[in-house]
Amino acid sequence: MLSIRQLSRSFREGTRVHRVLEAADATILDGQVVAVTGRSGSGKSTLLNLISGIDSPESGSVSVDGTEVTALGEPARTLFRRARIGFVYQFFNLIPTLDVLENVRLVLELNGVRGAAADERSRAGLAELGLAGREHSAVDMLSGGEQQRVAIARALVHRPGLLLADEPTGNLDEATAREVLPALLSLTRTRGATLVIVTHDPTVSRLADRVLELREGQLREIART
Ligand SMILES: Nc1ncnc2c1ncn2[C@@H]1O[C@H](COP(=O)(O)OP(=O)(O)O)[C@@H](O)[C@H]1O
Ligand SMILES: [Mg+2]
Repeated sequence: MLSIRQLSRSFREGTRVHRVLEAADATILDGQVVAVTGRSGSGKSTLLNLISGIDSPESGSVSVDGTEVTALGEPARTLFRRARIGFVYQFFNLIPTLDVLENVRLVLELNGVRGAAADERSRAGLAELGLAGREHSAVDMLSGGEQQRVAIARALVHRPGLLLADEPTGNLDEATAREVLPALLSLTRTRGATLVIVTHDPTVSRLADRVLELREGQLREIART
């Protein structure tokens, strides 16, 4: 379970304080696919950064599977994030000096899985996303859709219980988005992982279990028919 309690975060802009999250609350159950919407600047990326412990709140807490991420020190947060969370970003964030396989395998290596086991799991993960045969391509030779599929393989390879996706199709054309999104959602569901996906894509909202809107610093459940 992912539990967000009274989470507040503001940023200082000169002399002004911009309150981005103000006592935001949400409870997300294991295996749920939750879409987070909200206008640009409403704090969606800030929320994901707080969930993953990349950023720290002024007050409030985030717990992932009973671990209060917001109570951990920086080194413990980094280890927790590395082991338990997978990320998919709008601009893919692949490492250009590594090939496709190395990008995926790196996550396993950071978690202590090495050698043939790491190789096999990375190849299997890439194959699930239709990337068999592309293992040794340079990432910048791939199309946007292919790069995002590599990023999804990377996000899943260490079998995290929680996946965070920040506008994963924001940089893809519509047709490509329509092939990447179902792959992300169906693999998440197959693994029983929880997915929090920031998106404006109505398709995702339809496929998600819940939609939360971030507005005026708070998360509100959007009722759906
Ligand atoms: N590191 C930061 N320093 C200052 N302001 C920030 C920082 N990160 C985000 N903000 C501000 O917080 C607000 C929310 O940003 P963000 O979470 O990126 O919104 P969204 O992802 O919904 O578009 C914006 O006004 C942004 O300028
Ligand atoms: Mg954002």
